[in-house]
Amino acid sequence: MRIDFDPEAMGRTPFYKLLTSVVVPRPIAWVSTLSEAGTANLAPHSFFTVACVSPPVVQFTSVGRKDSLRNIEETRQFVVNLAPEHLFEQINATGTDFPRGVSEFDAVGIAREPSRAVKPPRVAASPVALECELHSTVTLGDSTVVFGRVVHAAVSEAAMVEGHPDVRRLRPLARLGKDEWGTTGEVLEISRIRYADWPGVTQG
Ligand SMILES: Cc1cc2nc3c(=O)[nH]c(=O)nc-3n(C[C@H](O)[C@H](O)[C@H](O)COP(=O)(O)O)c2cc1C
Repeated sequence: MRIDFDPEAMGRTPFYKLLTSVVVPRPIAWVSTLSEAGTANLAPHSFFTVACVSPPVVQFTSVGRKDSLRNIEETRQFVVNLAPEHLFEQINATGTDFPRGVSEFDAVGIAREPSRAVKPPRVAASPVALECELHSTVTLGDSTVVFGRVVHAAVSEAAMVEGHPDVRRLRPLARLGKDEWGTTGEVLEISRIRYADWPGVTQG
């Protein structure tokens, strides 16, 4: 038996709550931007993923028109900082609806560092920064998807194992439903099976 849900009948907010409880866990893009006036903004976005491999493009969604989106439209650059476990409360605090002229870096007390390839600063204590140039935006109903071409990636040396970022060292947070957040649980490993190796498949 299943329980059925009709988005049309339920309406926006109840269905949004259902959707965000079943599309889980979601990685969190901690997005730093600069306004034209020079205020540094920082806000978490969990509607986030990789959009393209070549060129490397990431995407996040602004539900409504928020400061991060406005800044990116103005200055065409942003940084996706990984949201690490040890900054849990600070990350949540940067989701507060501060007025446009207030920098979350200052209000929450988050140290910044200069980026390499773009003007918005990086979060100094985050182990990963993906520096992006705006590629394009797509507006869908009440939301705008922002695509950013990654022009530089910086990973903390301490998070690297044998030349590769290691999830056990990155310790990323994830967003779940309601007010729930997740940490990385057990890490499983398995190789992809090529069709040629599938049991019963004979090589032609
Ligand atoms: C963990 C977390 C994830 C969030 N994900 C999103 C998201 O994907 N899209 C969005 O529009 N808002 C999201 N929010 C809410 C924004 O962070 C919040 O509205 C914030 O004030 C926006 O800041 P800004 O106006 O400075 O851009 C999230 C909040 C939290 C705490």
